[in-house]
Amino acid sequence: MSMQSTEERGYWGSRLGFILAASGSAVGLGNIWRFPYMTGENGGAAFVFVYLMCVILIGLPLLINELALGRASGKNPVGAFRATMPGTPFVLTGFLCVILCFVVLSYYSVVAGWTLGYAVSSAMGKSLVFEDFVRNPLYMILLLGVFLVFTILIVQAGVQKGIERWSKILMPLLLVLVIVIIARSITLSGAMEGVVYYLKPDFSIISGDKAGDMVLAALGQAFFSLSVGWGLMITYGSYMPKGQNMVTGGVWVAFTDSLVAILGGFMIFPAVFAFGMEPDSGSKLVFETLPAVFAQMPAVGGLVATIFFFLLSLAALTSSISMLEVPISYILDEKKASRKAASWIVGVFAFLVGIPCALSHGSVGFLTELELFGKTGFMDIIDFVFGQILVVVISLLCSIYVGWIWKTKNAVQEIAVGSPGFAKGGGFSLSVVWSFFVKFVCPVVIGYVLYTKLWS
Ligand code: PFF
Repeated sequence: MSMQSTEERGYWGSRLGFILAASGSAVGLGNIWRFPYMTGENGGAAFVFVYLMCVILIGLPLLINELALGRASGKNPVGAFRATMPGTPFVLTGFLCVILCFVVLSYYSVVAGWTLGYAVSSAMGKSLVFEDFVRNPLYMILLLGVFLVFTILIVQAGVQKGIERWSKILMPLLLVLVIVIIARSITLSGAMEGVVYYLKPDFSIISGDKAGDMVLAALGQAFFSLSVGWGLMITYGSYMPKGQNMVTGGVWVAFTDSLVAILGGFMIFPAVFAFGMEPDSGSKLVFETLPAVFAQMPAVGGLVATIFFFLLSLAALTSSISMLEVPISYILDEKKASRKAASWIVGVFAFLVGIPCALSHGSVGFLTELELFGKTGFMDIIDFVFGQILVVVISLLCSIYVGWIWKTKNAVQEIAVGSPGFAKGGGFSLSVVWSFFVKFVCPVVIGYVLYTKLWS
């Protein structure tokens, strides 16, 4: 990422710099790990369809919404609400963003630690049994710690040019490997059933009594995957120079992110059905399915597995650094601490909060069996409260704030700088459509989904 440290409040060096950094944040475990298991838990193709609708109709307008707030204010999420309209209670939304990023960083790093563990074991030619692997408490804590130290080291240095250079080579390579794995997965015997499950929607699920859960999960997943609803795009928007086109930039990020998620599913579901596994087995889905696919690649399986898990760890790293960047940008803007001290303090706290998550997959009985809100296990409960509910609440507040308090005309003015086509065309300009979505469609749909989930 060509960005200077926020102590100088730097700017992206180029349009590509922004697209790479924002896509680096968006593409991560959310696409390869979370999307397949959410799809599996929510009935397959119908979920994929609702998910894509959520990305296009809700996620993308709100992505641009956040970028506008960030660039107009030049501030972190808390500062952005304060600067654009001082004195409103919506500043609370900014604090919620900081808390959300901090909490999710803690368990995101647990899963990233799993990918590191799988990379190391594959390199040593050892195959892992997921259940035994996650039951080893010291190893879980060690992997969590190692991953967080990498995250902290990058963020404390200011976001370095190296990452941008690396991402340019490594992310396309990840994509190539995903395609290689898809090729193996869909040619397994019995794979077609998985392709049908993934592509042929059974819409009775949308009208059934599980509909509310499914739509909420799809909406939450869209926000999780796009990094929208976390203040991340506010922060990255604040590093965007005025001349940059945030509309095409936003579309690129949403497109890349969705493409990788869809490919992630193609890697998993044909194999799940070919091996007679359960698509709704939850967060272990990818970690059980992929090793079985690698085992079907004679001679090269070990190598492909090693490179794949290593690259996935790096994709997780470009996401985790962005998650840490949100609380850090707040601290640097508002509290005047040093970047280094802030990175270590927040990182160490994330480690402490991550420990119970790391131990909730068999190593500690109480954390593993805990049940709340229909979820089992400490990490799944935290993911539900923060990664599913809070992110949706924040997105609702952001759309109400820009739509009705700060007003879309101010946002449109900001977006149009650098995006000349946006406000042109009279009654049918893109800006009119966008404003309609932010003022009406987003708050009504998000509000309704939340209402049916929480109160009916
Ligand atoms: N979008 C990332 C993923 O799909 O893995 C997760 C994420 C990163 C969410 C950064 C939010 C964020 F601020």
